[in-house]
Amino acid sequence: MYAIIGASGNTGSVVAGKLLAHGEKVRVIGRDAKRLERLVKKGAEAFVANVTDASALSKAFGGTKAVYLMIPPNPAIPNVREDQERVSDALVAAVQNAGVEYAVVLSSIGADKADKTGPVVGLHNLEQKLNGVAALKAVYLRAGYFMENLLPQVMIIKSFGVTGGPLRSDVKVAMIATEDIGAAAAEALLKLEFSGKQARELLGQRDLTYQEVASVIGKAIGKPGLGYMQRGPAQLKPALVQIGMSSNMADLILEMSESLNSGYMAALEPRSAQNTTSTSIETFVTEEFLPRFTGKAVGA
Ligand SMILES: NC(=O)c1ccc[n+]([C@@H]2O[C@H](COP(=O)([O-])OP(=O)(O)OC[C@H]3O[C@@H](n4cnc5c(N)ncnc54)[C@H](OP(=O)(O)O)[C@@H]3O)[C@@H](O)[C@H]2O)c1
Repeated sequence: MYAIIGASGNTGSVVAGKLLAHGEKVRVIGRDAKRLERLVKKGAEAFVANVTDASALSKAFGGTKAVYLMIPPNPAIPNVREDQERVSDALVAAVQNAGVEYAVVLSSIGADKADKTGPVVGLHNLEQKLNGVAALKAVYLRAGYFMENLLPQVMIIKSFGVTGGPLRSDVKVAMIATEDIGAAAAEALLKLEFSGKQARELLGQRDLTYQEVASVIGKAIGKPGLGYMQRGPAQLKPALVQIGMSSNMADLILEMSESLNSGYMAALEPRSAQNTTSTSIETFVTEEFLPRFTGKAVGA
């Protein structure tokens, strides 16, 4: 039996789907039974629990061979870092209580740093806390910048005619589709070939600047030459709050962006076959971005 945190989300749904397709027993965890139904129909066992509830998670992890762990985003909460610590405490307590032997853990580029990386500090601390569980074998998947972070550009392009954000236009970032993270996590869970505690970076198909991303999007939406404009914190913070982030989350995102711009937060591994994944930005834009931009499903 495997247990999956965040099973209805971007990466967790892929992990659960792949394990089920492989004939494995899977316990999918989320707050809402309805959102887990799709996986239950494929044979999963649903477990409704909040990730802050250590005793519920201890039951959810009971009898499992391995678990997929993450700190689900909670962008509207007034104190994000406090929430992340509550969640990582609960996850670690549950791993200990249930005697979990293997964990594949969603982390991030920059989780090697203890400060100045915004929400990624919470992932650094999760790794540190899990390092304290002697009997656990864990792999920390330090993923690059999610391509899904590009989806709000649909609204930005429609409102301003350009793409925009806090990153410098020439900063190369490892961008990865969450589908590729889920696939890598599922593979690690099926093989269980890791021991001790190890970090493994997942860097997507190639490094990209926002300017390059704008050019790919521009071609796809029929606006060749679509530009990118870096925006400063004074302009961005109100926009982030307007799309539902707490003031604290907006500040953390801006702090993380500054660390990406300065190079403080960056991949540590040289690019290799092991950390490179298959989904290109062109594929992501065609399959995920374009349907949202046009309001039409792929192939429609
Ligand atoms: N964005 C990036 O560029 C980036 C890069 C590297 C790492 N990361 C990390 O990736 C993680 C997010 O991964 P993801 O995109 O796969 O997540 P996601 O799609 O946001 O899914 C999270 C799932 O967790 C569940 N959930 C939310 N709050 C919960 C709670 N309190 N208790 C129980 N379940 C809860 C939700 O399902 P229900 O609503 O059904 O409960 C949701 O489907 C974060 O830790 C983030 O820091 C992000």
